[in-house]
Amino acid sequence: MSAVLRCDDCGQMLAATSPRVQCPCGGLLAVIHQIRRSGSSLKALFDGRRRRGDLDGHESGVWRFREILVPDTVTLVSHPEGNTSLYRRDSVAHFIGIADIALKHEGENPTGSFKDRGMTVAATRAAAWGAPAVACASTGNTSASMAAYAAQAGIPALVFVPAGKVAAGKLAQALAYGARTLMVRGDFDDCLRLVREASEALGIALLNSINPWRLEGQKTIVLEMLQQRGWDPADWIVVPAGNLGNTAAFGKALAEAREWGLIRKVPRIASIQAAGANPFHRSFRTGFRKRFTVKAETIATAIRIGDPASHDRGVRAIRETRGVVAAVSDKEILEAKAVVDASGIGCEPASAASVAGARLLVKQGLIRKGDSVVAILTGHVLKDAQTVMDYHRGGNQRSNPPVEIEASVSAVERFLKRRG
Ligand code: F0G
Repeated sequence: MSAVLRCDDCGQMLAATSPRVQCPCGGLLAVIHQIRRSGSSLKALFDGRRRRGDLDGHESGVWRFREILVPDTVTLVSHPEGNTSLYRRDSVAHFIGIADIALKHEGENPTGSFKDRGMTVAATRAAAWGAPAVACASTGNTSASMAAYAAQAGIPALVFVPAGKVAAGKLAQALAYGARTLMVRGDFDDCLRLVREASEALGIALLNSINPWRLEGQKTIVLEMLQQRGWDPADWIVVPAGNLGNTAAFGKALAEAREWGLIRKVPRIASIQAAGANPFHRSFRTGFRKRFTVKAETIATAIRIGDPASHDRGVRAIRETRGVVAAVSDKEILEAKAVVDASGIGCEPASAASVAGARLLVKQGLIRKGDSVVAILTGHVLKDAQTVMDYHRGGNQRSNPPVEIEASVSAVERFLKRRG
């Protein structure tokens, strides 16, 4: 197995061992693999590892697929991660309006979001180059994840987050894991611009999803899901979309999986944005003839992004999979979240965009009643406890507010009677 880095824009090739994460021309680098094994031998390798407990007992749902992520073997920076569940719940299926819907819960990763899958690969590469420090811009989850993996690798971490717009659970994680945290007066898009310039100027390794190794790790959301389904793809994969790292990684994973003979049929990707942070959706509606940036605002702070860095890759992923892009309101996101939460699974607001989006696409008839769908839940319910409390105390349709009582059995009785 071998690989090179190739610039999406100018086509320049770099060695896979290069510490560069962006091309000198400013374009994004992609990992191009040369795989010499057949699809059936790759499947036998990955399935055998899954049965036997992966790499010498290191049970990572990312590194199980190492031959199609990285070209060489180096010391892993891994918790481990991955091995997330596919859930089926009648209440969620009823809400969405189709029978065959599974939720893949990436909130089960060690720091509570899908970011750990990309971070283990990017942190492993950064450690192998001897990076003096790592940095990222973040709406919260990337910084939590990077802080944890940097701590494990013993590399100093520098985080740029939009001041006042990061859920408390995520900020707490970055601080707890020891990252130096800068609250930037601006939004995520400002943070990303700043960290791209600062990391280039200061020689710090940038671990945002423009780092090509992040996407290699995030491919395993799709690969692991295909493996869980016995390599029988669903008709649709529905995913929340912000900076479009996941949409890009899913498109790459599916194109490669077909090319290498892991699957024959390619699922359609549905990328779901918040209505107040919908540049990709707007672009989709023009047939991707125009690119938009917006001043983003949504309760789903994880996807409060107005100028997605992986726009072009997102376009390719949607085109190559005959995919669609949709947008859902904050109200729809919160309602879908309440349904997922009350099913006992739970997720953060941005994650619920995939469930709200699946429901919308079923209503529009794009997803048909007999289709099989996997929706990705990207983050854990406890990431944003404040939004949960506000919703349940806020007199909403599915609110379940806490009630204060005297410490007496009669007060409990009165409460139960009132509830009926
Ligand atoms: N869901 C969650 C929970 C996220 O944290 C993010 C992105 C997304 C969805 C969107 O994924 O950017 O690949 O389209 N969070 C980034 C962060 C931006 O900084 O944590 P995307």
